[in-house]
Amino acid sequence: MKEYRFGIVGATGLVGSEFIKVLEQRNPPIKSVKMLASYRSAGKKLFFNHQEYTVEETIPESFDDIDIALFSAGGDTSKHFSPIAAKAGAVVVDNSSAWRMEPDVPLVVPEINPDDIQKHKGIIANPNCSTIQMVVALYPLHKVNPIKRIIVDTYQAVAGTGIRAVEELKTQVVQVLEGKETIPHVYPHQIAFNALPEIGVFLDNGYTKEEWKMVEETRKIMHAPDIAVSATCVRIPVLTGHSEAVHVEFTNVMLPEDARQILSQAPGVKVLDDPVISLYPQAWPCAGTDETFVGRIRQDASNPKGLAMWIVADNLRKGAALNAVQIAEEMIKRDWVRPGGR
Ligand SMILES: NC(=O)c1ccc[n+]([C@@H]2O[C@H](COP(=O)([O-])OP(=O)(O)OC[C@H]3O[C@@H](n4cnc5c(N)ncnc54)[C@H](OP(=O)(O)O)[C@@H]3O)[C@@H](O)[C@H]2O)c1
Repeated sequence: MKEYRFGIVGATGLVGSEFIKVLEQRNPPIKSVKMLASYRSAGKKLFFNHQEYTVEETIPESFDDIDIALFSAGGDTSKHFSPIAAKAGAVVVDNSSAWRMEPDVPLVVPEINPDDIQKHKGIIANPNCSTIQMVVALYPLHKVNPIKRIIVDTYQAVAGTGIRAVEELKTQVVQVLEGKETIPHVYPHQIAFNALPEIGVFLDNGYTKEEWKMVEETRKIMHAPDIAVSATCVRIPVLTGHSEAVHVEFTNVMLPEDARQILSQAPGVKVLDDPVISLYPQAWPCAGTDETFVGRIRQDASNPKGLAMWIVADNLRKGAALNAVQIAEEMIKRDWVRPGGR
């Protein structure tokens, strides 16, 4: 079997750490791994499969000996380095939003549109974390009964913002409990014991960028340009694991028991749905897991062709690192990596 030279750009970040764990656990055919970050972390030590690696500053030459470059280093870094990496012959799987809506960049959730990977020209985009878990749960239903409209409200963990946000929440929780003043740095307001309906910048249409990503990316991944989507994205003081209240309108009536049956066989989905014993997906226990959990499936009382449900997943795993590694695995399986150029 061919082996591939992997690079992790942003290896010292929250998603980067998860990349390391996911690669260790899933064990794709790896010839070598290079740990890359900014100059700030150059020289730091990281472990992969019990072996010590030294973090290197990302420079254009970093990509000369990489086949698959897993990027999680923000949009600006990706805008700058992804074309350089692709030109050097690597295939980039990028976690930022820099490339997602570019027409010639595939935006992929392997359970949904793996064939799109083949069209890559050196860059493949990993979708937004909130979008990934929603489409993993909705696409199997859409295939049976096309979806016309989605209304989604998110409850997003601070890990979605990165390491600094996790530290900010932990610090503020202690400060509030000790009766001290909090000074927000990462978020516009205190996040501890609060809920902030602002994720990403506000757009002219009144939505935030995060909300608009859910609109556009859902349509692109599902190849369903006519689906109507409206999202409200809210940051809450949860460490890891995004939750979503989703209301879906189908073309025809969809019974909750039929939805449960379809989802119980859907790839990557686990149904947790028994109100009698208070069984439903929760953020805390979902942290560190790979599935997208769905529960509270019920008829939408306001719409005869609608269902309401609650969807939860680990934003660092299925929402980021795991999905990207699955893309890499799919490329490897189908021989769609073009190492060496090419
Ligand atoms: N967190 C999530 O749930 C999630 C989900 C989906 C997508 N994403 C995306 O993934 C990316 C990283 O998120 P994160 O949560 O891991 O953030 P993070 O914890 O803040 O880590 C950021 C990483 O990027 C590196 N970096 C920053 N500037 C760089 C540069 N100029 N060159 C090379 N590396 C650089 C940092 O390296 P240093 O240590 O040197 O600073 C660090 O390793 C973002 O684009 C984010 O939108 C995150």
